[in-house]
Parts: sequence; structure tokens; C-alpha cells
Amino acid sequence: MTAPLILGIETSCDETSAALLRGEAEILGHSILSQDVHAIYGGVVPELAAREHLSALDDVVRAALEPSRSSLADVDAVAVTAGPGLIGALLVGVCWAKAAAFAVDRPLVAVHHMEAHLFSPSLEDLEATPPFVALLVSGGHTLLLHAEAWGRYRLLGETRDDAAGEAFDKAARVLDLPYPGGPSVEKAAREGDATRHRFPRPMLKSRQDPSDPSYFDFSFSGLKTALAARVEELRAAERLEEERAHVAAGFQEAVVDTLVSKTLRAVEATGCSRVLLGGGVSANRALKWEMESRLGVDGRLFTASPRLSMDNAAMIARAASFRLSRGEIADPELNADATLPFPGLERRAV
Ligand code: KG4
Ligand code: ZN
Repeated sequence: MTAPLILGIETSCDETSAALLRGEAEILGHSILSQDVHAIYGGVVPELAAREHLSALDDVVRAALEPSRSSLADVDAVAVTAGPGLIGALLVGVCWAKAAAFAVDRPLVAVHHMEAHLFSPSLEDLEATPPFVALLVSGGHTLLLHAEAWGRYRLLGETRDDAAGEAFDKAARVLDLPYPGGPSVEKAAREGDATRHRFPRPMLKSRQDPSDPSYFDFSFSGLKTALAARVEELRAAERLEEERAHVAAGFQEAVVDTLVSKTLRAVEATGCSRVLLGGGVSANRALKWEMESRLGVDGRLFTASPRLSMDNAAMIARAASFRLSRGEIADPELNADATLPFPGLERRAV
């Protein structure tokens, strides 16, 4: 049998995306539309996101099919992000995919958005497969897990409050930097000196051991408060303009140090030095460099290129090829689920 041709659809947040994937890594067409309507609000407005998906999705799918001159009738399965994400946004993709699968009488495959981020690096590097320790850092999630095999994951740590991407987005707002926040904090930080403003490393004490419940967990809300207080001081002293890049650099360093230190704890505890970085924040170069250098020559780091690190439908189709190979086909009555549980994720205990 030839490798299946899967049409993937992603609409969980503010990217409308479609991809046509042959087998596990041959991307025949891939279209990603980043919604810019949210920029003036400084964050994603859920209703606007859903409306934009609705008006763009037909064209985005057409653009993904076009390079291989394929039509919907050629695909072997239709895959869609069923959750987690913004419910209205998810519903647009799920309804579209259900209708498409029904129209051409093909199986529908439901994909978990965060599991799909785990598959992104494998689209570009065939060795990016389990076992690995994965740090998934996005706008809504911060997860540290041990992937023993595809579909078999052990959760080691997660955030107790804000996600890492959310911390970057909030920092951008506090610093009057443009949306989307992560890339603009990174850009500002490149011009700054991180040693001028030191911020706390949340839940990172040197005398912690793996039995401590916060050993692998994250918390970013205190860091956000510390940042806001520093910015207020500088604003009052009329020094914010000259210090902005240095503050951004200090903030980024605190987040990166925390993320990398916790990941290295997971490497040590599991004995697995293959590390995968996934989710939108993994596009951050400072994070990649720090992880790479602290992992050292004995470790191996897998990351996707920036285009496949952000939300995209190629990773949805790739995750679906795994689910389809196990015969996991969604019910035609599939519903979107904003808090969909991570499939195969077992909690804790190293
Ligand atoms: O995975 P993703 O594209 O969407 C979600 O599933 O949430 O992640 C988006 C998040 C946003 O919070 C964005 O600010 C952050 O990833 N991000 C970054 C960078 N690029 C995107 N954070 C830090 N540095 C970046 N270069
Ligand atoms: Zn994502």
C-alpha cells in the first residue's frame, strides 16, 4: 500500500492552516495564514479568530492542495485539531473537516494540538523520534514530559499558572512592545544586556530534589509581577526608554534559564539525553542556544524550523498519520474540546 495522503487542518488559535502530507514526512503543500486583526488589541480576540478562520479556511485549503494539483477526492483521510484551544476557533476547523470527510467518504482523524507539536521536528529530521524528553512551550501550555514511544508519554512537570508563551506575551505588553509578544521581546532582548536587570528564577532552588513537588514544575506569574514592578520604577524615573532592551534581556534570560534548568533535571532523572523542544516559544533562539550548550556534546537536541515551530497543519497531518496507523478514526459526530486531555499522557513519578 502506498503511504496515505492526509489533509491536515489547524484552527485552534490565530493561525489558519492546511497541509497535504504523504506518509510521515513528505509535505506536498502547506499554507499558514497568521491573523493580523488581533494586533491592535494586543492579544488574540476569540470571536475575531473564529470569524477569520471561517472566511479564510476554504482558500487556505485550496492553497495547500494546489502545488500537487490534488483535490479533496484524492486524500485518504482528513485530520483536524480537535483541541485544546479556543472553542469557537476549533469548531470552525472541526466542522469543516467533518463536512469534508463526509463529502468524499474518507476517515476523519482527531488530533491533540500539543501532541502534534511533538511531531513537528520529525517532519524535518527522521531521527526526531522517541525516546526523548520534551519541553513543550506555547501560548497556552508549558509541559515537561518523557516520551517513551509515540503515544506513550509521562508528564514530569507543568506550569502552575501562566504558560511560558503567555509570560512572553504579557512581558511585551508591560514593556509596550508590539504583538505578537514572544518575537518582539526576543528582538528587543538581542539589543540588551541581561546582567543589568536580574529577575527571579521561579521554582528553581538549588537545594531541591526530585521528591519536591515543585522540582519539575513551572510558575511564571511572579516573574511577570517582578517585571511589572521594575518597569513602573523605570517609568517613574523616566528611564524606561533607555532600559527597555536591557529589561527584556533580563526577563528572557530568567525564563530561558528556568526552562533549560528544569529540562536538564528531567534529563538527569530519566537518563535520557535526547531532548525535543516544541511549541511557539521553541522558535526563541536564546532558548535553543542555551539548551544546546547546556546539554553538551553527549546530548541531542531536536527542534523544528521556525515555520514548523509555530502553529501549523503539517504537524497535525503528521500526528494524524500516527493515529491513523493505529486505526484511530474519529466518530463522525466529533466535537471540538477546548480542554482535550493529552492522549497517552500519564502523570508524574519518574
Ligand atoms: O504554539 P504556538 O504558535 O501557539 C499556541 O499553541 O499557543 O505558540 C504561541 C506562543 C505565543 O505566546 C508567542 O508569543 C510565543 O509562542 N512565541 C515566542 C517566540 N515566537 C513565538 N516566544 C518567545 N520567543 C519567540 N521567538
Ligand atoms: Zn501551538
